[in-house]
Amino acid sequence: MSDRPREVFSRIAGRYDFLNRVLSFGQEQKWRARGIVHLPVGRVLDLGSGTGAAAAVFGDREIVALDPVSEMLALSPIPGRVVAYGESLPFDGDSFDGVFSAYVFRNLVSIPETLDEVSRVLRPGGALVVVGLGRPRGAVARFLHRIGSAVFLPIAGLLAGSPGEYWYLHRSLDKLPPPEEMFASGPLALELVWRMGPLGFVYGAVLRKAMESVPPQGGRDPVRSGG
Ligand SMILES: C[S@@+](CC[C@H](N)C(=O)[O-])C[C@H]1O[C@@H](n2cnc3c(N)ncnc32)[C@H](O)[C@@H]1O
Repeated sequence: MSDRPREVFSRIAGRYDFLNRVLSFGQEQKWRARGIVHLPVGRVLDLGSGTGAAAAVFGDREIVALDPVSEMLALSPIPGRVVAYGESLPFDGDSFDGVFSAYVFRNLVSIPETLDEVSRVLRPGGALVVVGLGRPRGAVARFLHRIGSAVFLPIAGLLAGSPGEYWYLHRSLDKLPPPEEMFASGPLALELVWRMGPLGFVYGAVLRKAMESVPPQGGRDPVRSGG
């Protein structure tokens, strides 16, 4: 597994929450909360939980926080913490009602492997809620946003003493296709996508695991049994 997230996030762990607040103009928690509205109650995995910044908006759900970077997890207020990658989840199948993941997907080593693992650990009918950063939809908005992030993020990085990491953030915004494309195929059905933030560069998405199919009764072929 690549050590890139470890390098980046272990270096900025102590400043992550402050910088995130500054870079999102104080909106990052509101964007998480808009996703959490769609999250089932019960047992929930916070995938790429980092410093556990979403803890305050999870309500009374039972949260398991997972992240490969122990320096980030060490700052988390969530009691149940697991150091692991999304691509290889150390949990039994069907063991979570929901999975939440905010600002993580650009950093994953493999999105298909992570979606397979999320699908495995979700119970039938359970939901994955993703909040992520990308580029706005229209060509003009995308162009303006690219110029803005090329200027703004390195300046923020210099102020934070981590210019390399913030250049990485700027570059990673172009890494993935829009969510409608990224989640179009795979083990979970894409149910909903919405956009938030300036020019709509933040997206939310809800994906659902199918309910278990009911085996045919009495050995009869269900297609022909009615007629
Ligand atoms: C931008 S932070 C987001 C943290 C938190 N979800 C939040 O809302 O503030 C991205 C997090 O994803 C984690 N991460 C990177 N690669 C990962 C992977 N392959 N599997 C799971 N988490 C990963 C990083 O360690 C980091 O804590």
